[in-house]
Amino acid sequence: MSELRPDKLRECGIDPERVPAHIAIIMDGNGRWASHRGLPRLEGHRRGYKTVDRVVRLAGEFGIKALTLYTFSAENWRRPRSEISGIMKLIASAAHQELRKLMDEGVQLRLSGRTDDLPDFVRQALLDDVRRTQDNTGLILNLAINYGGRGELVDAFRQIALRVQRGELSPDDIDERTIAASLYQPGLPDPDLLIRTAGEMRISNFLLWQIAYAELHVTHVLWPDFGEEDLLKAIADYQSRVRKFGGVVNSPGQDLASAAAPDLSPAPSIS
Ligand code: FPP
Repeated sequence: MSELRPDKLRECGIDPERVPAHIAIIMDGNGRWASHRGLPRLEGHRRGYKTVDRVVRLAGEFGIKALTLYTFSAENWRRPRSEISGIMKLIASAAHQELRKLMDEGVQLRLSGRTDDLPDFVRQALLDDVRRTQDNTGLILNLAINYGGRGELVDAFRQIALRVQRGELSPDDIDERTIAASLYQPGLPDPDLLIRTAGEMRISNFLLWQIAYAELHVTHVLWPDFGEEDLLKAIADYQSRVRKFGGVVNSPGQDLASAAAPDLSPAPSIS
């Protein structure tokens, strides 16, 4: 298990008791990182993988409970064939190489996305890690692969429609909880903080349902360069915000996170 580093957090003015439970990251800028150096784009993805390694370790050390990484979007299939195949090989080899570390650090791997459509060698490698790490109790690492936010909602609505068709559910009983419970990872609470690297001010079809109340932190740092200081800055930025969930702040500095309307927080604890 990761050794917690509350002192490092305090040194940066961060309250270790109020770190975001779930951080989601749009890992952007691998291609730019490579082209700035005259390197092939795949080299950027290789360096991006090293950053994944670093950020997973740091998240454990800073007491983050869950990390969702946008690893391959449903739209990424539009990239050149050689880049797609390079990324797929990188993901599969990471799944083989990192298993020992995931076990040592107590990380539990989960997947979000249409994983059935991944090449066999990638799906098998990932599912093997998911199975082997399922009883780990440390950080939950949720990789969004072949993931699209609209596609996730389509898949959820299809499931719900089937339950209605079978007579298991009445349309009148469908509420926000029904939809949240039909997403790819229903046991995960919504992300508290969404980080996007490389400066674009877009959501890019990521976790459309789950980020309704997430705090956003966009940095110009390219993903391969994203390090400890950048993660600490994002967490400090998150703690500087007052979360109101559509309500009002009753007294100065009050954080209403715990006062969120129950309907807005369908999965309040990590499971
Ligand atoms: C976005 O940068 C990055 C991706 C689409 C791929 C992300 C993959 C990795 C970080 C490596 C593998 C990860 C794991 C978990 C093993 P971009 O190519 O869109 O960058 P650009 O906008 O600068 O072109």
